[in-house]
Amino acid sequence: MEFYKNKVFKLRQKILYHNYLYHTLYAPVISDEKYDSLIRELQILEEKYNLLINTHSPMQKIGSAIQSGCRSFFHLTPMLSLDNTFNISDYLKFEKKTKNILNIKDSIEICCELKIDGLALNLIYKEGKLFKAVTRGDGKFGEDVTNNAIRMNTIPLVLRGDNIPYLMEIRGEVFIKNSDFLSFNQESGIKKEKLFSNPRNVAAGSLRHNRSSTIIKRKLMFYAYGYNVIKGKDGVSNHFDKLQILKKWGLLIDNHTVLCSNVKEVSLFYHKIEKKRSLLDFNIDGIVIKINSIKFQKILGISNRFPIWAIAIKFKSFEKITKVLRVDFQTGRTGIITPVARVKPVEISGVIISNVSLHSKNQIDKIGLSIGDDVTICRSGDVIPKIINVVKLNTNSKRNNIIFPKNCPICMYKIIQKKKDGHFYCSGGFNCDGQRKKAFYHFFSKKALNVQGLGCKLIDMLVDNNYVKNPVDFFKLKMNELIKLDRVGIKLAKNILQSLNKSRSVVLSKVIYAFGICGIGLTTAILLSNYFKNLKKLIYVNKSDLFKIKGLGPTVSENIFNFFHNKNKIKFLRDLEKELNIYPDVTDRRFNIVNKNIFLYNKIIVITGFFNEISRRQLIKKIEYLGGQVVNSISKKVNLIIVGKNPGLKLMRAKNLKIEEIYNIDFLLH
Ligand code: IVH
Repeated sequence: MEFYKNKVFKLRQKILYHNYLYHTLYAPVISDEKYDSLIRELQILEEKYNLLINTHSPMQKIGSAIQSGCRSFFHLTPMLSLDNTFNISDYLKFEKKTKNILNIKDSIEICCELKIDGLALNLIYKEGKLFKAVTRGDGKFGEDVTNNAIRMNTIPLVLRGDNIPYLMEIRGEVFIKNSDFLSFNQESGIKKEKLFSNPRNVAAGSLRHNRSSTIIKRKLMFYAYGYNVIKGKDGVSNHFDKLQILKKWGLLIDNHTVLCSNVKEVSLFYHKIEKKRSLLDFNIDGIVIKINSIKFQKILGISNRFPIWAIAIKFKSFEKITKVLRVDFQTGRTGIITPVARVKPVEISGVIISNVSLHSKNQIDKIGLSIGDDVTICRSGDVIPKIINVVKLNTNSKRNNIIFPKNCPICMYKIIQKKKDGHFYCSGGFNCDGQRKKAFYHFFSKKALNVQGLGCKLIDMLVDNNYVKNPVDFFKLKMNELIKLDRVGIKLAKNILQSLNKSRSVVLSKVIYAFGICGIGLTTAILLSNYFKNLKKLIYVNKSDLFKIKGLGPTVSENIFNFFHNKNKIKFLRDLEKELNIYPDVTDRRFNIVNKNIFLYNKIIVITGFFNEISRRQLIKKIEYLGGQVVNSISKKVNLIIVGKNPGLKLMRAKNLKIEEIYNIDFLLH
């Protein structure tokens, strides 16, 4: 025992030292992967020898700087979303469809729950102990927020009772009670700190950012709404019983859940909850109905993004009446001119709304809007504000007073209306600072090159000071240029340069996405990346090539062709290629998606010993799925050695060469 205590102590010191290098000095000396493996090793030892509850542990340290938020972890099974309907009558369609597939005529048992408006969290429990807490992310990979989740009072570190399956994922919603939200805002108001805009943002910020208040983290709620057993048994045959088991294990579940068996009962529940909505101390945006039988759930299965055995029936979003004060025009990334109504600020479900996008001239004409009108606005899907209709015409002025400008408000180039889509566009292209800035926001955004610290304000300053004309210029920025900018100190500048540097290694799909070509989201970018494999081929693309790609429509093909068929662009792309280290996407066949930042990517790996849980052949397959290459013998080229039971001499050789050793292969098992 003394030996392990010592080991844990040393490991904690080591992690704290690397935290200090990473967070305080901004100068890490080990890779994120190495850091993760240290954390994993410590976590396993702390759990195994019950040394977890120790205030000196970096795993427990309050206000610790462990930046788990930016590390990603995969879900053992994809984290799906729910198909939305907005009307209780849609339940009948759902019932009909499911009964048809199941080929049954009798009534079917339905579990009705509240749809809590928070953020989804996946808790991986191994041998009854919390192993990872991961946000939903893209459904396949999420952010590893374990270090924040362990501070939440509502997430048990160890499950209660026996007969707990060996490995499982418990899923639920993280939120903050409205009363807590209000009191935090009151306190912030007194201290003249920034106020939070709504409870959901507080919950998301607090769960994802290590530095946010620990007091709030403790108050975060987690209501479980389901689980998946990966290894082991739970002996349960219906969803309702699953919820009861979750409660036994020590998790919170919402207690409004009921079982129904026909549309009348479901409708009663829906209306009862809709009435009760404003009295609850947390936000909900609808109800969720789930087929109760697990056997039926399995038969029904899942579609692309949703389970077929469940749907959400959402409540109508809250509406408010306000006045349109004026209409401004904004220039978007592609040059599109969007009218934005500035309205008298109103609060809708916790958020103050003062700007509402009007999308197009068409929409303005359709609702017959003029400045000074009273309008109904809602937050559609409870998020984006929208003007539904005009409720009172302005009395004094003329109608039709929203006039599109003739010139771009930013660069003064002419605005032209495109026949194709009827939208108005600024003709300034990259000469327009408005378009340029937005193109840069997009280029360096999270889904594209993901440069942290390079936010809109900073990009605006860089453009306004003429430091950057195209994305390549960002990679040539110097420390002394950055610190000349308003509110940019050495620390921030260092951070940005480091982040820019890190972003140089990037998969091709992200680069394609970053170009912001009209109609190209990440999915199409992946399609192109898998087809062309490198940027050079794409630069010199011809139309016939594009037409060969399945899943690419003619308009998008045309946009791609036009984007690359441009002399100025070719020079830029060539320069960009020199700055970046672009590597091909790896397709992870488990999810049929491109797997980013996976730590086995391009790694040369040796396996030694045997593993109870998996055969050698399967293990090699898994490693290859994740982009690694397995070789037989140790050499300097080898990056990792995976060590099983009774390892051979290879381990000794690896130790001599100081090759990283991996003992825990859980991440490869599913
Ligand atoms: S079930 C496979 N049940 O709503 C089933 N989701 O809009 C997936 N949510 O991402 C989820 N309350 O985060 C389920 N009682 C509930 C829920 C719930 C809230 C969230 C969940 C999901 C989102 C989909």
